[in-house]
Amino acid sequence: MIKSLIIANWKCNPATQIEARHLFDFVIGELKDIKNVEVVLCPPFVWLPVLGSFKPSEAFSAGGQDLFWEKQGPYTGEISPLMLKDLGCEYVIVGHSERRQHLGETDEMINKKLKAALKNRLKPILCVGEKIRDSFDNEGRPENYINPIVEEQLKKALESIDKSRVADIVVAYEPIWAIGSGEPDTPDDALSASLLIRKTIVKMFDSRALANKIRVIYGGSVDSKNIASFANQDGIDGVLVGGASLNASEFVKIVLRINKTNKNES
Ligand code: PGA
Repeated sequence: MIKSLIIANWKCNPATQIEARHLFDFVIGELKDIKNVEVVLCPPFVWLPVLGSFKPSEAFSAGGQDLFWEKQGPYTGEISPLMLKDLGCEYVIVGHSERRQHLGETDEMINKKLKAALKNRLKPILCVGEKIRDSFDNEGRPENYINPIVEEQLKKALESIDKSRVADIVVAYEPIWAIGSGEPDTPDDALSASLLIRKTIVKMFDSRALANKIRVIYGGSVDSKNIASFANQDGIDGVLVGGASLNASEFVKIVLRINKTNKNES
């Protein structure tokens, strides 16, 4: 059974170790019995040791929010895949739009990071998404803006990636306008984006099986009220939660809602 994947991206929060520990302890305590969901907690690098007190399991694991492509050396401020592995990370977010926007991350850098993650047996969560909704049909759906952008980001990120490792990649469709805005995408459009992502994988790697195997998730203003409409869709394998993952009880609600209504159980 493929479990729904729920990634908590804490971003640059919380400001103190004690708050990180409280958040973590509450979430782990409340969710200790979950079975149908895989939860990945991605705190800032410096709070990863706080998570060190739990053993990665089928239900829980840890992830980094970024990585550098070299293993070690004179790269001031960078965090390598080996360091993430050593701190127990199984996943790593790559190419988040906030890094593309504020840190000047390019498609080329993202491609290098993706390769480094795979080479070092970290599962990359590759973020793609368009900046603005530019055109809409009668039902308010974006018409054609998303296709070229998401497809291009994906092609550049996956350029010359070893086909045998592609199934380990999680692609997070994150329309930038929906991130932190309180205005999520519609579940239908998120599904269309997921189909586009899978079609692009078929084209690039000439394998429908691979496109079906890869996990595609949605991110952007997910909360406990809208989670089910995304995560219970066939074709959307989970969600990436930003703001709502910092509110311990809200995040617990999000996970429990999916744990209870997992599509694979119904
Ligand atoms: P949000 O962030 O849930 O706060 O919209 C999602 C993200 O940036 O991944």
